[in-house]
Amino acid sequence: MALNDGNMIPQLGFGVFQIEPKDTARAVGKALEVGYRHIDTAQMYGNEAEVGQAIRAAGLDRAEVFVTSKLNNGFHRPDDARKAFDSTLQALQFDYLDLFLIHWPLPTLYDGDFVSTWQVLEELQRDGRAKSIGVSNFQVPHLERLAAEAEVTPAVNQVEAHPYFGNEEVRDYGAAHNILTEAWSPIAQGRVLGDPTIVDVAEELGRTPAQVVLRWHVQRGDIVFPKSTTPKRIEENFQIFDFELDDAVMDRITSLNRGEAGRQGPNPDTFDYVPG
Ligand SMILES: NC(=O)c1ccc[n+]([C@@H]2O[C@H](COP(=O)([O-])OP(=O)(O)OC[C@H]3O[C@@H](n4cnc5c(N)ncnc54)[C@H](OP(=O)(O)O)[C@@H]3O)[C@@H](O)[C@H]2O)c1
Repeated sequence: MALNDGNMIPQLGFGVFQIEPKDTARAVGKALEVGYRHIDTAQMYGNEAEVGQAIRAAGLDRAEVFVTSKLNNGFHRPDDARKAFDSTLQALQFDYLDLFLIHWPLPTLYDGDFVSTWQVLEELQRDGRAKSIGVSNFQVPHLERLAAEAEVTPAVNQVEAHPYFGNEEVRDYGAAHNILTEAWSPIAQGRVLGDPTIVDVAEELGRTPAQVVLRWHVQRGDIVFPKSTTPKRIEENFQIFDFELDDAVMDRITSLNRGEAGRQGPNPDTFDYVPG
């Protein structure tokens, strides 16, 4: 897919949240072998070094794999953000990152200032060390504030989204402002896979529930990067481009949306966790 800055991002990637560093190189190695060319990590996940190792071990050119990382919550002050980005490149042993995100807006911390943090990301993009820049967990008012006070429009907004939590307002804002939506926890960490509607559709199509849900995201235009340490699932989650959901099925899945009640992760308006 084309980002608003002209760079391309593979719509399907591989997420490494909650993969232990000792298991990361194996999981990412398997994903690369299967064909994934987009890896989503973060400073907070503690496994950037192992992601870099796996890419080198796979013998792939740096340019063949799209890698995202995210600024940790303790580093929003501009000088800290610059240093943290340097540490990310060092851990990955890369000389550039494809996409760097502010992980959380933290509106109750740093006097509510995420704009000066964003301006550091603009700097990193200008100097070519972050090819694309974006945000994560930004709500509409946060995006509106960047639009009013910053120069660059985020290329993506990575937010929780799955059939139980459509996150429509944030997705609609992105669609209207040329910001692609990345859906985190796209299968709600497995919680939507036993849903009777999803199971029915999967049976009708001879697919697995995870494939149906990931396909629903892709047809909505979301970027997804399901996480798994199970080789069979890593393969299964990649096989989603050889079938289609018709409009009626898309609507059935979309109607599972429970609004705010379907949110599984923290609310970005109040989330203020800073790792020690
Ligand atoms: N920006 C943010 O704040 C944020 C927050 C959360 C996540 N993320 C990103 O989004 C990525 C994905 O989200 P996530 O890791 O929270 O959850 P997810 O991808 O929705 O679900 C992962 C869970 O589902 C299981 N699973 C995966 N494929 C399956 C399949 N085909 N059948 C059955 N179970 C399956 C995995 O188990 P096994 O591993 O045991 O196979 C794991 O427990 C993360 O890795 C991270 O990159 C970002």
